[in-house]
Amino acid sequence: MKLKLPNPIPDQLRPRPRRPGEGNGRKSAKDIAIESGRDAGISVVDWVDERTSVSGAARWAMFRKVPKGTNWFYTFGSATMFAFLSQAVTGVFLAMYYDPSPTRAYESTRHITNEVFLGEFVRGMHKWGSTVMMVLIFLHMGRTFFFGAYKYPREINWVVGVVLLVLTMVMSLTGYLLPFDQRSFWATIVADNINGTGPLLGPYLADFLRAGPEFGATTLSRFYAIHMLLVPGAIVALIAVHLYLVAKLGTTAPPWIKAEEPDELRTEKV
Ligand code: HEM
Repeated sequence: MKLKLPNPIPDQLRPRPRRPGEGNGRKSAKDIAIESGRDAGISVVDWVDERTSVSGAARWAMFRKVPKGTNWFYTFGSATMFAFLSQAVTGVFLAMYYDPSPTRAYESTRHITNEVFLGEFVRGMHKWGSTVMMVLIFLHMGRTFFFGAYKYPREINWVVGVVLLVLTMVMSLTGYLLPFDQRSFWATIVADNINGTGPLLGPYLADFLRAGPEFGATTLSRFYAIHMLLVPGAIVALIAVHLYLVAKLGTTAPPWIKAEEPDELRTEKV
């Protein structure tokens, strides 16, 4: 027996009903092709939905009301996410050619830039993308701060955001060493020493990053592991939590929008 699910397809995907007088009853080959293409899409959605009930989750996440006054400032969060995705994709291609050994790292980076097909372009996207992501994350944080989105009931999402900001900075720090040229080498030694001056945990953190008493081969592999495995994994998990909370709590209305008084509370003005 076929399982009947309540309205498994969002209304937006359903073909609109024919208006009175529309068409002369005979369909052209093009119309038939379009219609069967659309029906095929719907049957696939139905087939998957019957087995997973995924449309409910998709509708919960995507079809929702947004507050009056929502504007372009609300796009910074999604833009940050897009920048992160672009970093992930370009990073995967760079990892196919990069070699994290102290004797090969610089040469492999040079090879990517000068010889690999589109290598300079992909490396440039990754390098400039990191700056773009930092700018966007600060704009997004500014928007949530100035719109008061850190207040009740969104405090936890603000804290998750702060951790995402720190992790994004760790990505920038660890990525900077990877070309292993003079600039990245000495700049990272400076950054590691600055970390070492932090209170209590500072010296331990600096030791952990250096991965040994001297800055060298083990430091590079440690930075590489943090840069391409540890931190991206944590960022993906935290973005999932962040978006779950955004979907659950909804977004804040801009501060200049006044809440409407519910009818039952409205008092007659005399
Ligand atoms: C990888 C970094 C981040 C990504 C991908 C991200 C993504 C998003 C997205 C897509 C939204 C919903 C749309 C919007 O309001 O823009 C959002 C909302 C929010 N984000 Fe982020 N975010 C990140 C970092 C941060 C940071 C650093 C903070 C603050 C410290 C933060 C705090 C918030 C808050 C409080 C909301 C709820 C906004 C509201 O209710 O109006 N996020 N985030």
